[in-house]
Amino acid sequence: MTVDDAGARALPPVPPPPPPRAAPGSGGPGRARQDAVYRAGALGRRPRVPTDPAGLERAARRRMSRDAWAYVAGGAGSGATMRANRAALDAWAIVPRVLRDVTARDLSVELFGHRYPAPVLVGPVGAAALVAPDADLAIARAAASVGLPYVFSNQGCAPMEQTAAAMGDGPRWFQLYWSKDEELVDSFLGRAERAGAQAVVVTLDTTLLGWRPMDLDRGLLPFVRGLGLAQYTSDPRFRELVRERLARSEQPGRPLRVTPGAVRTLLAMSRAYPGSTWANLRSREPRAAVETFLDAYSNPALSWDHVATLRERTRLPVVLKGVLHPDDARRAFDLGVDGVVVSNHGGRQVDGAVAAAEALPRVREAVGADRTVLLDSGIRSGADVVKALALGADAVLLGRPSVYGLAVAGEDGVREVLENVVAELDLTAGLAGVTNWDDGAELLLHACFSPGRRVNVAYRPVSNQ
Ligand code: FNR
Repeated sequence: MTVDDAGARALPPVPPPPPPRAAPGSGGPGRARQDAVYRAGALGRRPRVPTDPAGLERAARRRMSRDAWAYVAGGAGSGATMRANRAALDAWAIVPRVLRDVTARDLSVELFGHRYPAPVLVGPVGAAALVAPDADLAIARAAASVGLPYVFSNQGCAPMEQTAAAMGDGPRWFQLYWSKDEELVDSFLGRAERAGAQAVVVTLDTTLLGWRPMDLDRGLLPFVRGLGLAQYTSDPRFRELVRERLARSEQPGRPLRVTPGAVRTLLAMSRAYPGSTWANLRSREPRAAVETFLDAYSNPALSWDHVATLRERTRLPVVLKGVLHPDDARRAFDLGVDGVVVSNHGGRQVDGAVAAAEALPRVREAVGADRTVLLDSGIRSGADVVKALALGADAVLLGRPSVYGLAVAGEDGVREVLENVVAELDLTAGLAGVTNWDDGAELLLHACFSPGRRVNVAYRPVSNQ
């Protein structure tokens, strides 16, 4: 008798447990999107919107005017910050963990007491009517259809009330540019509250407009053509400022020389201004509105003292966008703000600025685990979102990709872009062994070989043991 035989007799064999069954209905948004695409493919239909970010950008460029392309795709100076944003994300590698039963995945996050289906917001993008008429409404409807919050831009092309109405119950935030007129700031804040915004994002990195060669070389600033002023021209305080301006002078500015360009600009202003285009063409108001805007926007004097007044001026959670230095982030929270967006405005402001994804871990370290920290600038895919969360973000804002979707296929195009990002996020998280964002004590390791061959490591708690 062998030892094995003896052991077998002493301990009767125990049948192995059956493998755990997949929970019903656990496909998730990733599987659902793949299903839709592959089933349509079997019928000979391909997605209208390319699923890979570079293809999306190329397709958008083909459909956009040169002006629109310059304004949306362009960045500050040599474009170094835009490249750095991508390089900083590419520099990290996800190290997937295996055998964690990822059948049931919960991508949702809670921000300021609201639960959203994924850690992705549609970021504020001004003057998007350069790309498509009714751009804001199309983006709003697309965001609402997938349940992701849309951050209305202060430089939007539709009044926030109209955009909110297009979203039904869809979640929305409002982004504020602090103008020189404090009453206008209060007016925007009040309107945002009444329009159902769940937070106000104050963008700090645009107190001056960055040096943008692609726009400069085309002599292009959409606002001068009256585009992106809808929040202003629909505002009672702003209208008052325009009337005051008109009352002060017979001429609302220097007289225009009549050139084809000037006529085009006048036409664009008159179309963008509320009311009938024909009446606007004969009115001095549209031009006075542009001049008033240029006077009020934006505010280079903005300081911590301004921000300190916000708590008294709105009941909405306050999020500061454009924070890159850990000390600024710390100071923001000390002052009582509710969140920060680590962002360099998609590389549109300071050429050679630190990449947002590079700044993020230091900001997170400085403010601690409990503060709300969001990231944008360079996010192009679901895998990027996973990296951003691993580096310390609670959620990300999508910038250019939704505009590219808009250019390719309007509202449907934006929806497809959002669905694709969330689908890839779902599949990447699952394949990396992550089933939700904040449970459990175990750590997921992300490592990367940076150019200096240093190994960076970042940790993010994952659930499931
Ligand atoms: C922007 N961004 C921006 N931000 C903001 O706070 N208010 C705004 O009105 C605008 N407008 C705007 C227009 C366009 C055409 C672009 C591309 C961007 C910045 C935006 O919210 C976000 O920070 C960046 O787009 C993120 O970078 P990526 O992901 O686009 O590279």
